[in-house]
Amino acid sequence: MTKMISAELYKQPATRYCPTRLVADDEAQIEEIRRLLKANNAVLVAHYYTDDAIQHLAEATGGCVADSLEMARFGAQHSADTLIVAGVRFMGETAKILSPEKRVLMPTLEATCSLDIGCPADEFSAFCDAHPDRTVVVYANTSAAVKARADWVVTSSIAVDVIEHLHAKGEKILWAPDKHLGAYIQQKTGADMLLWDGACIVHEEFKARGIEDLKALYPDAAVLVHPESPAGVVELADVVGSTSQLINAATRLPNKRLIVATDRGIFFKMQQAAPDKILFAAPTAGDGATCKSCAHCPWMAMNALDNVAFALRAGRGANGASDASSHEITVNEALRQAALKPLTRMLAFNAG
Ligand code: 13P
Ligand code: SF4
Repeated sequence: MTKMISAELYKQPATRYCPTRLVADDEAQIEEIRRLLKANNAVLVAHYYTDDAIQHLAEATGGCVADSLEMARFGAQHSADTLIVAGVRFMGETAKILSPEKRVLMPTLEATCSLDIGCPADEFSAFCDAHPDRTVVVYANTSAAVKARADWVVTSSIAVDVIEHLHAKGEKILWAPDKHLGAYIQQKTGADMLLWDGACIVHEEFKARGIEDLKALYPDAAVLVHPESPAGVVELADVVGSTSQLINAATRLPNKRLIVATDRGIFFKMQQAAPDKILFAAPTAGDGATCKSCAHCPWMAMNALDNVAFALRAGRGANGASDASSHEITVNEALRQAALKPLTRMLAFNAG
């Protein structure tokens, strides 16, 4: 379902969300995965940015579809022996750090994140060493080694609250890796923040000009923006928030049409939560764009029914023995202990 905006306005189709239909093959595969999950005493923990079929599978098998904070909490509290984390690598690592006694498998260990890649632990550690007077706060989208160097880990759901809390105590912050999220928090809290120069390749592509032009077509539409987006896009937002906060906003806002500047995977749950709303992906084309409107994380897209089944089969091995080396997340114990401290601080802050 694609409509063209007039060429004078902006040369990009306004993409309206249409749910993916599961085909018979998917249904058969879902049944097989259901059996494998049971046989492995495993549960599927999926992020909102994974494809519709993965989110459907997680829901249909008693798992969860959530933001990165809730994924961490759900996995740690669940009684399963094995967690299948459908998302990107830092999410699997976080699950392992919080639940070392559980086996953590991922559909593919290749699924990473541009923020994680852009913040190598050795360079980050040198940055911290150069600013010993600052409290180190890192985004969850980082490696275990970067988390191990931090005082706090935050996700986008609680980043503003944590920095507000630290700012009120007079602390100066060293923030990494997302510069856009960092600038947004700085502007919201007034905290003294030194920012690492990282960005999300998906959110960085949303264009203020494209959103303005879409708003010109649909003046009644509300604009929902994830704070990994550039400042010009955030300025146009009616609501800025994490994935779960944007889904809540979609249910709460009176507007019929919503323009959404985050990964389009979110539409599966957003449409489910707000079935009467018309959802548009915020435009990404235009000057400087490198990704013509896919608005979909290439690493999240690596999670598929095939490799969920493969991870589970590999997990059991031919004779029931474990042979999960190409799917299993492991974290060195000393690193795990160090990364656990700032992660536990985040979960305790959130619970409090
Ligand atoms: P959330 O913490 O909002 O789930 O976001 C994670 C992420 O990777 C955003 O790009
Ligand atoms: Fe990383 Fe961006 Fe993908 Fe989220 S959407 S996992 S921040 S690259």
